[in-house]
Amino acid sequence: MSPDPIIRLTDVHRSFGTQEVLRGLSFDVHEGESLVIMGPSGAGKSVILKHVIGLLRPDRGEVLVEGKPVPRLKVRELRELRRDMGYLFQHAALVNWLSVYDNVALPLRETTRRSEAEIRKKVEHTLELVRMGEAREKFPSEISGGMQKRVGLARALVTDPRIILYDEPEAGLDPEMSNSVSRMMLRLRHELNTTSLTVTHSWPCASMVGDRIALFEQGRFLIDAPPAEVLASDIPRVRSFFDVQK
Ligand SMILES: Nc1ncnc2c1ncn2[C@@H]1O[C@H](COP(=O)(O)OP(=O)(O)OP(=O)(O)O)[C@@H](O)[C@H]1O
Ligand SMILES: [Mg+2]
Repeated sequence: MSPDPIIRLTDVHRSFGTQEVLRGLSFDVHEGESLVIMGPSGAGKSVILKHVIGLLRPDRGEVLVEGKPVPRLKVRELRELRRDMGYLFQHAALVNWLSVYDNVALPLRETTRRSEAEIRKKVEHTLELVRMGEAREKFPSEISGGMQKRVGLARALVTDPRIILYDEPEAGLDPEMSNSVSRMMLRLRHELNTTSLTVTHSWPCASMVGDRIALFEQGRFLIDAPPAEVLASDIPRVRSFFDVQK
């Protein structure tokens, strides 16, 4: 029997008004595994990630992370669990009145008791990883969208989280930077055995980082399989979606 999954959604339903966005969604992600979710814009991919991190609650169904029922955790328990999780928001979501450096230092200051010297070392190293070291004193309004995305990535990674949720890590990046971010995601996984859930519109990114790729549409996964199997699928909708992607 395989060990308990790190992330498990079981029959999750969620509506906004009359719009049913999640309609009985179920999936598992095991330790060290990388699941990529693709699907049309507006389908509800970001909504899935927000359920995993506890920003949204399901109407029905269960969300377990490291075995804990996310929707039913107390504020303090949720904060504790989030220490293990990094979240790259779709729109970098930086704090406008903090510098690049302070934005990346924020999760360390909030969740750990490291000294400023330790924080400095870690923040500078992480900014170098995303090639943003030179912009450390700038404010979010003074850097480009792609640069903001990379700072958001540094902020998601700075605590060495066991679980990382990436919402469109490649969006707004040029092809070279996008490729280097995908490689960084792979490296993190191999070095730290991180478990990840990635939403992307990019097939190159998906096929590079995903052990499994899921196509999410109309509230459920139409397929959830290794990249080669997804490409060979004879489900008509899966074929048409990935024909355009490739
Ligand atoms: N807090 C909310 N209140 C009301 N409706 C919401 C909320 N969050 C999401 N929605 C709706 O749920 C649907 C799915 O949104 P979501 O952001 O998950 O799409 P997505 O698949 O991530 O799309 P994209 O690829 O464009 O990022 C949208 O119709 C959106 O308007
Ligand atoms: Mg989205």
